[in-house]
Amino acid sequence: MIIAPSILSADFGRLADSVNLVKEAKWLHVDVMDGHFVPNISIGPVVVKGLRKYTSQIFDTHLMISEPNKYIPQFIEAGSDRITFHIEAVKDPLITIKLIRSLGAKVGISIKPGTPVNSIVKWIPFIDQILVMSVEPGFGGQDFIMNSSLKIMEIDELRKSLNKDLLIVVDGGINKITSKFCKEAGADVLVAGSYIFNSENPMEKMESLGW
Ligand code: DX5
Ligand code: ZN
Repeated sequence: MIIAPSILSADFGRLADSVNLVKEAKWLHVDVMDGHFVPNISIGPVVVKGLRKYTSQIFDTHLMISEPNKYIPQFIEAGSDRITFHIEAVKDPLITIKLIRSLGAKVGISIKPGTPVNSIVKWIPFIDQILVMSVEPGFGGQDFIMNSSLKIMEIDELRKSLNKDLLIVVDGGINKITSKFCKEAGADVLVAGSYIFNSENPMEKMESLGW
């Protein structure tokens, strides 16, 4: 199980120090919000570039933005290793998949809680990960939506039937209890923000999600 701390809940005034508290994490999850696709604004490529100097962790960049194609090159240039875009934000997912690949990053597609798994089935052969949103995107600290486990199971079945190497990432409301449900349903990567960073000991919190 990979645990990806979400820097959305880190201390943005001391970002490099905050990230250093979870330096053992292989992945760091970077939430990008544009105030349009979601009702919140977070960080842009300049922050990714700034942080890149302080860590060699894998930057798993989650684009919650309306026009991903426009900004993907900047994020990859800034140091993003993996780019996940939202299926709800694009007309032709293949264009976005090809763009990310052509620039050398791994490709992910995310679905919001209300979006069914069958909306992305067609694209599974072309991608590296699916990110299941287990809260409405936009804010940290929300409660895990229980039926997300069913979606994880559905994707797990699909990847088995297609014999496809695909990571299932779950994002939102992850804590000690919900992490167990996700693991049992077949998740490979858990994104956790508030549970890890709103704590005196982020590393200990991270380890408690490993199961
Ligand atoms: C929500 C983001 C999440 C968020 C998770 O829109 O995509 O990555 O940081 O935060 P928690 O773990 O607090 O639910
Ligand atoms: Zn996220």
